Amino acid sequence: MTFPAVRMRRMRRDAFSRALMRETVLTSADLIMVAFVVEGEGVRQPVPSMPGVERLSIDELVKLGAECVALGIPALALFPSVDASAKSEDAREAWNPDALFQRATRELKQRFPGLGLIGDVALDPYTTHGQDGLIDAEGYVMNEPTVEALIKMSLAQAEAGMDFVAPSDMMDGRIGAIRDALEGAGHIHTRILAYSAKYASSFYGPFRDAVGSAANLGKGNKHTYQMDVGNSDEALREVALDLEEGADAVMVKPGLPYLDIVRRVKETFGAPTFVYQVSGEYAMIKAAAQNGWLDEKAVVLESLVAMKRAGADAILTYFAIDVARWLKG
Ligand code: PBG
Repeated sequence: MTFPAVRMRRMRRDAFSRALMRETVLTSADLIMVAFVVEGEGVRQPVPSMPGVERLSIDELVKLGAECVALGIPALALFPSVDASAKSEDAREAWNPDALFQRATRELKQRFPGLGLIGDVALDPYTTHGQDGLIDAEGYVMNEPTVEALIKMSLAQAEAGMDFVAPSDMMDGRIGAIRDALEGAGHIHTRILAYSAKYASSFYGPFRDAVGSAANLGKGNKHTYQMDVGNSDEALREVALDLEEGADAVMVKPGLPYLDIVRRVKETFGAPTFVYQVSGEYAMIKAAAQNGWLDEKAVVLESLVAMKRAGADAILTYFAIDVARWLKG
């Protein structure tokens, strides 16, 4: 059948038929808010490269948690901004039961038992060198010693009440090792969200400012463990391994430039597939909006619908609260 029997514009003519044929609809239940926690009380520290994002002390974070609950956002992904005095070569603060991150987790979980908490598992906020793992004399991130540290970190988080541990470090074998340790310690319900296809991306710059690892990392990069930007098959191998090792959900990161990967992962495995709209994506949209060059709300909503259309089941985004408000209003 061809024109005029087929007129694609018929269904587009009115809002009602556009609504009826719409395949992908974004809801607040698709969103995971991302937040940075910092020491202190009543502290809200703006992150200059992420206008609108602030590092929050635990009491302020509690207000954010309440907003997530009120807006129907199912989960909050938490990252620490660690005082320089608590950073070390071996990142030991990461598994200190009284560390900021563990205190924040306990506080949030106690106040909002139904709000899912996702804890980042990687050493970069805690190391003096800004790498995600432990380094040898040449500065190479050592795999097995790092995995041992990540196990301790995951157990400390699970102990504090974290619902999901989310290893974002890209070490080999860490999902299986963490899963064994969690099972061994009786944390059989703690979920693992594996950053499986995490690329060595330049879109993470503002995040590194936010957690205070940028200066420590200096001219260093993460190319020996994060994935090469040109690869796609490798992402499928990473996801296959992580699922086999016991991941409950997998992640692709960054978001918008990597939707081909989201699509392949979702189609190949049919597993819960999350995508992360990272700090650089946030900063680009904010900067353009502040200049009056883009309509922030429209562009954010379009980006997130595109991620869902590509196959993402949930989206980590710094815009989650704004979006949930827009969807409500
Ligand atoms: C570090 C980590 C990073 C992000 C999440 N966890 C940065 C990095 O790998 O250097 C980036 C998130 C963002 O850019 O929003 N383990």
